[in-house]
Amino acid sequence: MVETSDEWITSRTGIKERHIAAAHESTSDFAAKAALKAMANAGLNGDQIDLIIVATVTPDMPFPSTACQVQQKIGALRAVAFDIEAACSGFIYGLEIARQFIANHACETVLVIGADKLSSIVDWTDRNTCVLFGDGAAAAIVQHRPNSAGVMAAVMGADGSKGSVLCVPAGGSRLPASTETLIKRQHFIRMNGKETFKNAVQAMQAAGEEVLRRCGLAVSDLACIIPHQANRRIIDAVAERLEARPEQVFVNVDRFGNTSAASVGIALSEAVETGRVQRGDLVLLLVFGAGFTWGAAVVEW
Ligand code: UT7
Repeated sequence: MVETSDEWITSRTGIKERHIAAAHESTSDFAAKAALKAMANAGLNGDQIDLIIVATVTPDMPFPSTACQVQQKIGALRAVAFDIEAACSGFIYGLEIARQFIANHACETVLVIGADKLSSIVDWTDRNTCVLFGDGAAAAIVQHRPNSAGVMAAVMGADGSKGSVLCVPAGGSRLPASTETLIKRQHFIRMNGKETFKNAVQAMQAAGEEVLRRCGLAVSDLACIIPHQANRRIIDAVAERLEARPEQVFVNVDRFGNTSAASVGIALSEAVETGRVQRGDLVLLLVFGAGFTWGAAVVEW
């Protein structure tokens, strides 16, 4: 579709494989699958979920929310449901919102989902972006546990002055869909890769250092560091700046590409399933995305 090569993609991004949803699948379809898996792992049924938060930039439709679609698909009919939009930072934004609801005793059980069908907004004629993104969903159950720290601390940040660096220009209230926006291909992702790259490295390093400072921890205390999986070179640069040992850093961008809000959730889930993260381990999650938005969280698994 575009002039590119496996050599370019591998050396500049580290990506070898991606998963693309079927045309008939929407974000809530695979968000619900991830949710049911998380609920089964936690031994919960739909009635026990108080709140559903879905982080996504590719909702099924502008409204109703994808969280409401998920609610009925998983039979969580008691749950409050809403979406948040923090692009690739959505999973940590969602975790922190869940933590606050629980800390304030407003809820007992929160289902946090990061899910995106980026293939639906990728411009397959733009080689700057079409080689990077994949589809996926990740879900976590968040509850208070008396004998475990869980999400120990999180920091989040945003810089709206950089909004145009990574965006989908049309389809909202600024540029509603029209023949002209379609012809100009303004419903697809546009990104200044270099500017995004530079800001991603700086923000994830700073957020990581800040959250560790708040927890009184050093990088050497961490069993695993899970950065947003956008580009292998970004991950390596962040790890180097944090002075992390290579074996501390979890990488699966080679097999999933950039799955946006699902990215660190999918990586955490894989790290747990493969035994890379064990009960009691301290894990640092780092995210960065459009907005710009960013965040870091320390989790005792
Ligand atoms: O999840 C949100 C966060 N997103 C990210 O973190 C993505 C951040 N950015 C990146 O990962 C990288 O900037 C990219 C992978 C997007 C691009 O890598 P780069 O090393 O920054 O390349 P570049 O944009 O500076 O492009 C270098 C060259 C250009 O050619 P010229 O102008 O030097 O002749 C591009 O046109 O590579 C060319 N190029 C490609 N060539 C082959 C760009 N994309 C491709 C491609 N295949 N797919």
